[in-house]
Amino acid sequence: MEKTFTILKPDTVKAGNIGAIISQLEKEGFRIRAMKMVHLTEAQAQGFYYVHKERPFFGSLVKFMSEGPIVPMVLEADNAIEKLRKVMGATDSKKAEAGTIRKQFGTDIERNAIHGSDGPETAAFEIAYFFSQLEVVG
Ligand code: RTP
Ligand code: MG
Repeated sequence: MEKTFTILKPDTVKAGNIGAIISQLEKEGFRIRAMKMVHLTEAQAQGFYYVHKERPFFGSLVKFMSEGPIVPMVLEADNAIEKLRKVMGATDSKKAEAGTIRKQFGTDIERNAIHGSDGPETAAFEIAYFFSQLEVVG
């Protein structure tokens, strides 16, 4: 079993889609090992997405991720990192495949409903950014 990290982004919380997305994740075979709701400051969002700090969309991304509460979670499944990326769909919600979370619940390339770690090192950094060891079960 592998762990990965996800965030239900501010657009998801605002639209009332937390339950629908968690339900889909559970049906896909993910088990929740940690979960909370937080409202990031801009500085905290910058720290989370620091790998993108040189990208043209960084400022807008940070504003978006700090505009309202989010739901960070640790998920566990076989091959969880790759599996989650597949279930999420392409970054641009408009281009994501039918049935993916981003196609169903996202709006565009920025407001795309959900975040997922892209590799084992990022997953470890991202889990530790939001959760202490005591807050992750299993
Ligand atoms: P994430 O990290 O959130 O799971 O998304 P991702 O890997 O599919 O995409 P990434 O390239 O890591 O981008 C991080 C987030 O930045 C926003 N974004 N905006 N305006 C744009 O061109 C643009 N590109 C990316 C999205 O919210 C994306 O998920
Ligand atoms: Mg990414």
